[in-house]
Amino acid sequence: MSRLKDKLSLSSKYSQQNSPFLIQTTGTTIALNLSEVRMKTLIVYQSNYGQTQKIAEKMEAELKLSMKTDDELDILELSKHQSLEKINYPVDRIIVGTPVYTSRFPKQILKWMGVNSELLKSTEVNFFTVSLNAADPNPSARKADDYLLLKLCEQSSLTPSFVASFAGSLEYTKYGFIIKFIMKRISRKAGGPTDTSKNHEMTNWKMVSDFVSAINKNDVRSEFYFQNRFLSELNPQLNDSRYQTRVKDILSGRPVCS
Ligand SMILES: Cc1cc2nc3c(=O)[nH]c(=O)nc-3n(C[C@H](O)[C@H](O)[C@H](O)COP(=O)(O)O)c2cc1C
Repeated sequence: MSRLKDKLSLSSKYSQQNSPFLIQTTGTTIALNLSEVRMKTLIVYQSNYGQTQKIAEKMEAELKLSMKTDDELDILELSKHQSLEKINYPVDRIIVGTPVYTSRFPKQILKWMGVNSELLKSTEVNFFTVSLNAADPNPSARKADDYLLLKLCEQSSLTPSFVASFAGSLEYTKYGFIIKFIMKRISRKAGGPTDTSKNHEMTNWKMVSDFVSAINKNDVRSEFYFQNRFLSELNPQLNDSRYQTRVKDILSGRPVCS
């Protein structure tokens, strides 16, 4: 549907309302009811410790609740060593979910976006990141989250419609000795949980539902809309001119130099 919307230059006002829309071609008027247009959604994610998977599956469940009879939904998990294939069927909307490890995204996610760049460039794309950082209310952590999302845009050369940074989990019981030690130190520094005898989930599930709802309604007023997050007056980083230039370059599709 997004490609159709692009072609016809439908305004977000009409797409939000799902109202019958009149297209005037030479001499003919066609009535198109957007609520009857079939929608194919794909959720793609990688998850080494399971929390990104839980979030992706919650999104799948929420999307299923609002699906119309003809709509389709696929969910694809990327694993570390799997060979990557091009998606060879049409998709209207893609949600890419990636965890953050040592301030980076897993290579497979970036590779998958590279392999499928043609499809992604012609489709509505939405990003979500999962990290510990997102649980930290400090302004410096918020800034780091913003930069992570911008980095994902730069590395994929894509401009997403909706974006979210979700707090993940500390899976102490799954970590080896060294990772457990490092994660405990990082968590202590950020004021997070340090009891390594159990795991600590920090995900705000309402935020996950709100993100799906914003995507579903194409709610351009929502906090998850890329431009609201990065160009909003509420974002104190507006003072940083380098940051703003980056955002504008991403929005205009120009290559970004970091
Ligand atoms: C080895 C490792 C490195 C991590 N590095 C970061 C990091 O740089 N920044 C951050 O905010 N969170 C970091 N985290 C936390 C993860 O992003 C968080 O645990 C997330 O829930 C992982 O997603 P997953 O469960 O889908 O693998 C790291 C976790 C691990 C295990």
